[in-house]
Amino acid sequence: MKRGLGLWLTGAVALALGMGLLVSCKDDTAKKDPGATGGKKKLVVGFSQIGAESAWRTANTDSIKAEAEKRGIELKFADAQQKQQNQIGAIRAFITQKVDVIAFSPVVETGWEQVLKEAKAAGIPVVLSDRAVKADDSLYVAFLGADFIEEGRRAGTFLAKATGGKAQIAELRGTPGSAPELDRAKGFREAIEKYPDMKIIKSQTGNFERAKGKEAMEAFLKSPEGAQITALYAHNDDMALGAIQAIEEAGKKPGKDITIVSIDGVKAAFEAMVDGKLNCTVECNPLIGAQLFDIIEKVAAKKPVEKRIVVEEGVFEQEKAKDALPTRKY
Ligand code: AHR
Repeated sequence: MKRGLGLWLTGAVALALGMGLLVSCKDDTAKKDPGATGGKKKLVVGFSQIGAESAWRTANTDSIKAEAEKRGIELKFADAQQKQQNQIGAIRAFITQKVDVIAFSPVVETGWEQVLKEAKAAGIPVVLSDRAVKADDSLYVAFLGADFIEEGRRAGTFLAKATGGKAQIAELRGTPGSAPELDRAKGFREAIEKYPDMKIIKSQTGNFERAKGKEAMEAFLKSPEGAQITALYAHNDDMALGAIQAIEEAGKKPGKDITIVSIDGVKAAFEAMVDGKLNCTVECNPLIGAQLFDIIEKVAAKKPVEKRIVVEEGVFEQEKAKDALPTRKY
């Protein structure tokens, strides 16, 4: 009997210990539940990206995705393939999914009022990334992006210096109706207007794409004014790189027969400068993921944020390209 009681007690203690263990394991699991990120609800952000039209855009996407992952933020990412209707659809889907914050890079400036009103009515704050919109500014909480007018001015100022204020210019413009297309055109014109011998003789969109930049430059060179072109201003590096190919195929020397300035500062532009084919790139920094999520986290925590946050950027001329190339991150 005594032995039987002993066995029963040992069994009961073991069972109790086991249950205790199970209970404590259960508690621990609850504490470690990753969905709860230490008790806090995981932040869910919807981001509508324009597309993948340029090396700049790819670097921008990578920066945003990497930063979300680093911070443990759930990112619902949608690629709009350069179509405004796809962006509007994505924003509506984010509203239906009740994300905490919506961020997007608007492909064009206008046509956003309705969908932004829908986000506001649903109580979801919106942050603009990279490009601005023309809409009532109470419809978004913040805009993080470069000063595109200043970038255009910097390109114009460089070209005036490099050509001694004399140039017959071909211009490759970005996506029609986009903030960088409109602002870079404006800033450039402002910078060259005091030089009567600097004239834009050809201007066409290349949609921020390398292949379309090449096509447009081919058309410029074949046009009646083609032989007079002494300078090229491209609204981004990808279009300039396409144009460089067209210039070479036409038997001319890019960077010498035609002075070229473009915008972005991607690695391939630095390589073209080292090869003497591009004369200057004005930086437009795509690596804004960390700044963007700083803003988003503050907005989600209902902390105040500045309405307009400008990204800091520089200008790189050909002479500086070789030293700068190894340090370029995009
Ligand atoms: O909005 C930024 C611009 O968009 C970049 O200059 C261009 O390369 C991109 O596609």
